[in-house]
Amino acid sequence: MHRIPEKIHELTVGQLSARSGAAVSALHFYESKGLISSRRTSGNQRRYSRDTLRRVAFIRAAQRVGIPLATIREALAELPEERTPTRDDWARLSETWRSELDERIRQLNRLRDHLTDCIGCGCLSLESCVLSNPDDVVGERLTGSRLMAVSRRKTSDA
Ligand code: FES
Repeated sequence: MHRIPEKIHELTVGQLSARSGAAVSALHFYESKGLISSRRTSGNQRRYSRDTLRRVAFIRAAQRVGIPLATIREALAELPEERTPTRDDWARLSETWRSELDERIRQLNRLRDHLTDCIGCGCLSLESCVLSNPDDVVGERLTGSRLMAVSRRKTSDA
């Protein structure tokens, strides 16, 4: 990992990329979305303040746990004078994101558990397929292929 001397207060995009592990294109993207900012030199080159490193680390950590960029931007914008998030900020924000993450994990577990029913099915039914309609109430009990088997049985029993 590249070390940047303490006396350097501004970073080029290449230095920021090397130190943070984020691709230059990702840094440009973050900037275009207002998550980080830079000043331009007289030669129109970007310069980032040193604390942008911590901001990028915050963004990447939040992204790793599945927090959308829009949510991350809102969180950063709420910090006083758009300061760099501190350890306490991360602790507080990650706590507020916990329930959102728990819900996402619950949904993914449910999708995983029902995926085998969809393999070889192909119906993608909005009424009964858990992949097509993950919030479906009927899909909570049975997936489409099981429902079709049940309805076929009922028809043949009649
Ligand atoms: S494809 Fe999902 S139940 Fe048919």
